Amino acid sequence: MRRIMFLVLVLLLALPLGMSMAQDGFDCGTTEDVTITYIGDPAGTHPLAEAATIERFKEVCPNITVERVEGSANGQDLLASYLTAFEAESPDFDVIRVDVIWPGLLANHLLDLTSYVPQAQVDSYLPALVINDTVDGALVALPLRIGFGMLYYRTDLLEKYGYDAPPATWDELAEMAQVIQDGERAEGNPDFWGFVWQGNSYEGLTCDALEWQISNGGGYIVSPDGEIQVNTPEAAAAFERAASWVGTISPDGVIGYAEEDARAVWHAGNAAFMRNWPYAYTSSLDSEAIGDTFDVAPLPAGDSGVGASVLGGWHIGVSRYSENPAAAAAFAIYMTSAENQKHYSIDTSSPPAVFDLYADPDIQAAMPFSSPEVVAVANARPSTVTADKYNEVSTLYFTAVHSILTGEEDADVALELLELDLKELLGK
Ligand code: GLC
Repeated sequence: MRRIMFLVLVLLLALPLGMSMAQDGFDCGTTEDVTITYIGDPAGTHPLAEAATIERFKEVCPNITVERVEGSANGQDLLASYLTAFEAESPDFDVIRVDVIWPGLLANHLLDLTSYVPQAQVDSYLPALVINDTVDGALVALPLRIGFGMLYYRTDLLEKYGYDAPPATWDELAEMAQVIQDGERAEGNPDFWGFVWQGNSYEGLTCDALEWQISNGGGYIVSPDGEIQVNTPEAAAAFERAASWVGTISPDGVIGYAEEDARAVWHAGNAAFMRNWPYAYTSSLDSEAIGDTFDVAPLPAGDSGVGASVLGGWHIGVSRYSENPAAAAAFAIYMTSAENQKHYSIDTSSPPAVFDLYADPDIQAAMPFSSPEVVAVANARPSTVTADKYNEVSTLYFTAVHSILTGEEDADVALELLELDLKELLGK
């Protein structure tokens, strides 16, 4: 009896203090019933992974309802919609997806999560990602999933045309793509293409183009110490090579393609090769046309002799204008916890941000192509060094590359102008 009274007393004392620990020790931030809004993945990619995350969170924090709103699939549009709302200090959304390149751009509008997230969780992430998300000492996002550029290829078609390995260089890729395309068309598939990738004038082209440029030894757009590196003969050669693919081994329309456009052609069985992120892996396995007949490889090398992939990925941030910051932070923390990342990562076939998960057999089985070593060599875009100017840098860059791909501008001229524009923008 005495013990029961003691427990009742403890509970009575604890409640007014706003004790918000859920049963398993997870801190839900509040005991009140609140609804928060999360800007989620666009339709067609991984809404189920997010719905499952929200359901799991509901079990841990039953008092918090998460409303998921679909964000734009186009990164630039998504960023613009965030910035418009942030400028108005709108409390309309609480938790957002933050592209790996955005912490510097959005830092002023994102909550510093340092005092919310347990240090052990921060320590569980790959350190480079925590550095990426720390702006002027504030932890403005938590890493959720990683992307890096990789080459998808059709094992059946390589075998059919006598190739015993995926291409080691871009030139080899172009040759193989042409032979396979010619053969498949001759056999009656007029819709077949050698190689699909991201050629639209948007952030995705910055990723593809930077991979071509680095693999050719042509520089990094802006080096970590601030040197502008675009107007190089190696970069020009890399972009001219890519321009030569348009309308030959790649559809004319590739200059309007984003990830999902490339994925659609690939899934239909109409491409020999595709450049894409790991997220396309599970959906490729599920594809009826190619599920059993594809594999992935590192991207081919350019004239530098080594291939290069760009680091992508999505992190989770909380708006400073949220009316429920503690609950919003709790959702961000739960979403990026090891427990949730294991499921999320498998559902989206995107490598996790939590280092220990790479040793997990289920993760290894779901994405055999990924490891901390592969992630470590992926090249970051110059978002840390250019910080709040990154979006303008990238826009100038992909616009210039796009003009080369369309044939509007010669590579030499386009890159000279790009260099001048970047110098002006960055005050060099
Ligand atoms: C993927 C990457 C992201 C990148 C985008 C470009 O979503 O994860 O980092 O900016 O593609 O389209």
